[in-house]
Amino acid sequence: MSEMQHLLKESGYSDKAIEYYQNKVNVGELSEPDAYAVYTGPCGDTMEIFLNVEDDVIKEAKFQAIGCAGAFSSGSALTEMIIGMTLEEAEKIDEDKIIESLGGIPKQKVHCTCLSKRTLQKAIKDYKEKDKI
Ligand code: FES
Repeated sequence: MSEMQHLLKESGYSDKAIEYYQNKVNVGELSEPDAYAVYTGPCGDTMEIFLNVEDDVIKEAKFQAIGCAGAFSSGSALTEMIIGMTLEEAEKIDEDKIIESLGGIPKQKVHCTCLSKRTLQKAIKDYKEKDKI
């Protein structure tokens, strides 16, 4: 285990959260996303989410963040979870579900899961509004 992995583990990140963070799972952009949002949380960190949607089902999901290890591991967990879900299912995912999927995150990083949840909800809301026009 590298020094960094060791430190992350000591501060309360699960092995899965560390793996997501280090492998940058789903970090990236989609060139012509069907749904997109950028959101800045109260901590000052920012996330972008890109989705491709077909018949209300999320086919692809990527994200970018200017943020901490908590933001990156949450973004990876959330994007992994939502691929294959309908928009209705995806917008109901809360912090607890993200933490459950990560298998553990330091207490002081719980709010970071909220950043990814809110960014996703904004992307879905914008997509639905765009659809009505
Ligand atoms: Fe801002 Fe983690 S401290 S998302």
